[in-house]
Amino acid sequence: PAQPRDRLRVAVQKSGRLGDPARELLASCGLTWRESRDRLFLYGESLPIDILLVRDDDIPGLIADGVCDLGVVGRNVLVEHHLERGAAGRPASLREWRQLGWGACRLDVAIPEGDEWTGPAQLAGLRIATSYPQTLGRWLRENGVEAHPVVLNGSVEIAPRLGQADVVCDLVSTGGTLRANGLVPVTTILESEAVIAGPDHHLEDGRQEIADLLLRRLDGAVQLRE
Ligand code: PRP
Ligand code: ZN
Ligand code: MG
Repeated sequence: PAQPRDRLRVAVQKSGRLGDPARELLASCGLTWRESRDRLFLYGESLPIDILLVRDDDIPGLIADGVCDLGVVGRNVLVEHHLERGAAGRPASLREWRQLGWGACRLDVAIPEGDEWTGPAQLAGLRIATSYPQTLGRWLRENGVEAHPVVLNGSVEIAPRLGQADVVCDLVSTGGTLRANGLVPVTTILESEAVIAGPDHHLEDGRQEIADLLLRRLDGAVQLRE
């Protein structure tokens, strides 16, 4: 069980697409902070809310384990976590507390430029590099296709050039990363945006009240942007 805490802890991506906008959003809620020496922990000064900077893929696990209370994360990461738990026979323990309306991206299958795309059946027997094996696996099953996922935690887009995979299944935001690697998205398997993730139960030790205050300010800040 997690240690009792009377300060709210929010997990944010340390680098990548969602990190800076997430910190800006929290700053627009009136949060100010002091950085730790290693810059991975932001100690909240104006409110008892601290920020932990981590890999986005680690955010669901940190919340599920009670190490963090909330997280700003792409729905894609949350969906993958749910499917992974489901595959292990464990129930979901997280839910989306808010949808933020930014950070839109798609999880797409992409193939080498110049190759023809005739549909999912064409992927049968191919090696598909991805960081989202569960989400990809569900889509392959739904389409009755048997392929070989190659799980990579980063630089998925260079796997075909390295001869490590035939195609990829990766996140696409502007499309720049795929283009730069000679890959073309051909089909979307999940639509995503930034969300506030949290546990599917109330927080303890007074942290729910702090979270409610933060969410009220967040709702105000999100409305102001619309
Ligand atoms: C995703 C994906 C690509 C990039 C694509 O990474 O893995 O690296 O975004 O964006 P683009 O279409 O605008 O080029 P993400 O920011 O989710 O971080 P991570 O890969 O480090 O988890
Ligand atoms: Zn990631
Ligand atoms: Mg990336």
